[in-house]
Formats: sequence, C-alpha cells, structure tokens
Amino acid sequence: MYGFVRRAFAKSMGLDDADLARPIIGIAQTQSDLNNCNNNFRELAEYVKRGVWQAGGTPLEFPTISLGELFMRPTTMLYRNLMAMDTEEMIRAHPLDGVVLLGNCDKTTPAQMMGAASANVPAIMLTGGPHLSGRFRGESLGACSDCRRFWAEYRAGTIDEDAMRELEEGINRSDGHCTVMGTASTMAAMAEALGMSLPGSAAIPAPDARRLRMAEAVGRQVVETVRRGIRPSDVLTQRAFENAIRVMMALGGSTNAVIHLTAIAGRAGIQLPLDLFDRISSETPYITNLRPSGTFHMEQLYEAGGVPAVMKELARGGLLHLSEPTITGQTIGEQLERVPLLGVDASGGSGWCGPDRVVYPLEQPLGPQGGIAILRGNLAPDGAVIKQTAVSPHLRRHRGQAVVFSSTDDLAERIDDPLLDVTAESVLVLQNTGPRGAPGMPEAGGLPIPKKLLAQGVRDMLRISDARMSGTGYGAVVLHVAPEAAVGGPLGLVRSGDWIALDVAARSLRLEVADDELARRRAAWRPPASLRQSRGYARMYVEHVLQADGGADFDFLLASPSPSGRGLG
Ligand code: FES
Repeated sequence: MYGFVRRAFAKSMGLDDADLARPIIGIAQTQSDLNNCNNNFRELAEYVKRGVWQAGGTPLEFPTISLGELFMRPTTMLYRNLMAMDTEEMIRAHPLDGVVLLGNCDKTTPAQMMGAASANVPAIMLTGGPHLSGRFRGESLGACSDCRRFWAEYRAGTIDEDAMRELEEGINRSDGHCTVMGTASTMAAMAEALGMSLPGSAAIPAPDARRLRMAEAVGRQVVETVRRGIRPSDVLTQRAFENAIRVMMALGGSTNAVIHLTAIAGRAGIQLPLDLFDRISSETPYITNLRPSGTFHMEQLYEAGGVPAVMKELARGGLLHLSEPTITGQTIGEQLERVPLLGVDASGGSGWCGPDRVVYPLEQPLGPQGGIAILRGNLAPDGAVIKQTAVSPHLRRHRGQAVVFSSTDDLAERIDDPLLDVTAESVLVLQNTGPRGAPGMPEAGGLPIPKKLLAQGVRDMLRISDARMSGTGYGAVVLHVAPEAAVGGPLGLVRSGDWIALDVAARSLRLEVADDELARRRAAWRPPASLRQSRGYARMYVEHVLQADGGADFDFLLASPSPSGRGLG
C-alpha cells in the first residue's frame, strides 16, 4: 500500500516508472536569499541534476536550513547543530539512495558533513566556490580580512566615509564564499582532503564555468558512489581526519576548522584530541601563501593547482595517508597520481620560491610549522587555540596585564572609552562568550583594538577569550579557551590587572595568580544569566552543547561517549 501511494504521488511530479526504478539522488539545497554566499546554488543544482540523469539516476532537490554568516544574529554557530540535525533527518526520513550536499558559507559545509556522517547514506559534498577578489583603488581585496583591516583604519581615522562607501561597492563583487583562507575555504578544502568531495573542486571560483562542469561531474559520480555502496563511514576514518588536519596546517587554515573537524569526527565515532592537532601542526610545514596569513586568494590557489597541489606536495614528503578511500572509490594516493609535482629547478630542488609563488615546496616553507598551535596552562586546562601564522612576531612571547570584559555588551560599552586603562602591552580578556556562555560561541574573539591605541598606530595586541574568531581574522588572538568561563573555567576568574603570560613556541598560557587567591575567587563565582534559557532551541542548546574541545556538538548526537572536556557545569 505505502509503495503504491508513494509511486502514485511521485508520478504527479511527472516521474515515470523508469525514473522511479533508478537510484534516487537527493540534492540538499541551501540556496537562500538570506545567504549571499550560497547564491549560485540554483544553477549548480541544475548541473548536478544533468549529471545524475546522464549516469542513470533520478535527482530530487530538497531544501534545508541555510546559514548566512553575515545576516544571522547572534551567531550562525548557534544554529550549526540545528542545520546538521535538519540535514541528517531529511536524508534519513526520505527514500534517498544517495545525496549531494550543496554548502558554501562557513557553517553550512560542516553542518552538512555532520548530518551526512550521521545519516550514513552515500554522499558527496559540493561547495559553491569562493567569490572573486574585491577591487578598491587598484588594490586586490580579500573579504573579509580586508573588511576588518579597513574598518580598523576607519576607526583610526586614516580613511574616510567616502572610501568606506567605495569599499562597499567593490569588496565582494560576485557569488561565492569569502576568498581568503577563512573558514569556508578551509572547510571546502577539508571536504576534499577527507575524500568527501571530488578532487580539485574546493578552489574553483564560484562564477567560473568550470564549477558548473564540476557540478555535472558530481551528479554523475554520486550515482556511481551509490552503485558501489560507498558510505561516509567508509571514508571518514581516523586516518582521513589526520590527512585533513595535515592539509589544514599546510594551508594556514581557519581555527574554526578545529571545532568543525572534531564535530564531524564525533559523528563518525572518532575522537580528535587537541594534542593531535598540535602534533600534526608541529610536523607540518606551512606552505600555502594565502591570506589572512599570507598574500594570495583562492583564485590564485586554483590557478596554482588547488588543494590537490598542496596534497601532492605533502604526499611527496610522506606526510599523507595515501591508502585512505574516497567517495569515488579511488584512494587519496590514486587520485593524486595524476596531479603534477611542483616545478623542479635546475639544482634538482622543488622550484624557486619567487614572490608570486602560492604553493611552496616542503624544503622552503613559509613557516616550519602548521598554521595552528594548541596552548595549555592554568588559564586553559582543556586547551586553547591560536593561529600562530597570523600573530605579530613581537607578541609570540608576551607578558602583560589583563583588561577584562565580562561579556560582548561590556566590551562594546567600554572598549573605546578614552578613560579605559589600557596600553599596547595590555592583554584584552573577554569572558562568557563560549558555547554555553554566549550562547553559541560567536566570532567575538578578535576583540577590536581600543580606538585610542589605534590612533597611536597599534594594530595588534594579545587577546584571549572562550569565543571563536572568523577564519578571515588575524592577530595575536587566543581562542576556544576550555573550559569556558560560563561553566566555571579559570578564564572567568581573571580580574583586570592580573598578569598573563603567553609563549607560543612553548605552547603555554598562564595566569600568574596564586592558587589560594584563585580558590577564593572560585568560591565567590556565580554562573552568568545566559545559562538560564527558559524555552525552545536556545534551552536545548545550553543544556546539551559540548565544550570547544569536544567540537561544540550536542552530546546526544555523538556516535560515541562524550570526549573529555565536557565542562564543569
Ligand atoms: Fe559566507 Fe564569509 S560570509 S563565507
């Protein structure tokens, strides 16, 4: 009876018996007028459908939540897990043999991979690609690193409103995600490194016709993936995540990827302790010259060979697990066989590193270690994250006195107060902006430099919080401090005037306050009001979200017991 009715109703859409006998391929559509980064997905979905039909499948497009980074308040991160649940349940609830995930803006790609990992139906991730580099008075711009840079200059009074209006016209001039190696670029690269996307797909610019052809190829491939019965659980292995972390470090990828990879792995029953990220970072040269840590944008990475060029170089150095399977049925190593090595120079080295080089040889890296370092110490017993490649050299080892803000509201109120007791050597500390404290762990960690210091020419300071930072951000910014302040972590015990010491090379973050004084402060500590959510999704969120080192997923969505660092609350 159910099959009869289902077929009858499907036929009302013009599908015939032959269509219904083919593999049914869902296309998880996240096009939304509220998400500029995913604006090219109507067209991409049409090309995916062409490929699915060509390969003998039947495509059915369905909508899910879409998270546009710049339009949502308080933060898209609050809704990443909701989108992951939506994606998982829609895949699970429908008679789909396979699915193509169309994601692009920061949280959409990890949310879809989390959902797909849990649903475990054959799936391919297709991102929408980076936008074109911006233009301003002869300069090539990268949103949104340059949004921050110019906003700081505007606050410092070095550029005027006319310039800002001109910037508004040219900084983001096409469909696509942010073109620097921010979170969206990083997560697209992670999908490729994990084997969940077709090789070479991450860096193709959104408006480039080669992305349309890639979409068609994805449509053909997903039918084949279904026929071969390859599921996310076959691809998302421990070693696949190690490959992804390796690529992230070589790219100078976003700190947010630490959280997202941990969350995707958690759905696959794999734990990724922060020490694994740090170990791989310490073994992996930083070789990709992309902003915000370097010079170029995703367009130039694409012209230089894209993510496969970076992976090929890592493979040449024996730094990848080459036998890991991918959704194509080939291993990572087999896929890399057709990727050319970096140019070889006359001396037999791996090529001259001129100023226009995007992917550097391992022997002449941009930095000896990966982009991200994990810090430990009495201020972050369960760890903290710093993008070490984006830290001003003079702040890599720094000791200063704290200037504490208890919330983002407190920060907004006081940061530009001319009477604020702050110098370039101060350490700006932001509390109660973690997963539960905000709630939702907003990208508030790149605290603005106080206006009076901007006017003195200061452009970087040590900043510490339990928040995240945009992947397009930069500076001496310590993030993801765990446990967070709102569950009783030591970050919540810091007072203005306390001395704090950072040593990136030693991976150390210390609050120089005596233990008995900390014990006194702890006894007087009370949780913030933000933990008392009375209803709805926000209540579910604060009751179930894991700490940053657990991926900030919900505890009931993990495929295995909760990782350590569940928090004190
Ligand atoms: Fe969507 Fe930057 S705003 S990726």
